[in-house]
Amino acid sequence: MTLDTTPHSYATWYIKPLGDRWLHTEAVAAKVAAVAPLLGLREFEQNLAVGIAWLHDLGYAFPDVHPWHPLAGALYLRENWNASIAGYVAWHSTAEHEGPMLGYGAELMEFERPHNLIQTVVDWADMTTGPRGEAFTLQERLAEIGNRHGKDSTQYNGMVASFDRLNTGRKIIRRLVTA
Ligand SMILES: [Fe+2]
Repeated sequence: MTLDTTPHSYATWYIKPLGDRWLHTEAVAAKVAAVAPLLGLREFEQNLAVGIAWLHDLGYAFPDVHPWHPLAGALYLRENWNASIAGYVAWHSTAEHEGPMLGYGAELMEFERPHNLIQTVVDWADMTTGPRGEAFTLQERLAEIGNRHGKDSTQYNGMVASFDRLNTGRKIIRRLVTA
């Protein structure tokens, strides 16, 4: 017997039992898979982008590892799988602002931050997908986070602070997809 350790199998094992998180994760992975071949990425990079999409919220399955899900997922992945994949998970979406707001800036900095199209496409897919897999604009996602967590929350303020970068990423993806 061989052990199946693909990102999809990790996600199925750990995230599928978490209910709505699975709907969100499936939709983010499907979105990345749909556009990845259109971005000029090598096949390996396309597969990596889809893999990160499957794993980006893995930390919700490991609240015992760390109370904040990007670091919970990253710490778990660094320990059990791959340090470079852990960096993508640590820094995904609004983490650069949310981490310091929560007092986790130093722990976040222990992970190398990827600055590339793989992270851009995962962030775009994550922040244009609702908590039950809905297709949202960035503005709709921001409003939904504000309603769900409150305007005082780090989730909302993290997305406000990240909005311009996420919007730039959206434009980059749209330009490449329609080119
Ligand atoms: Fe997500």
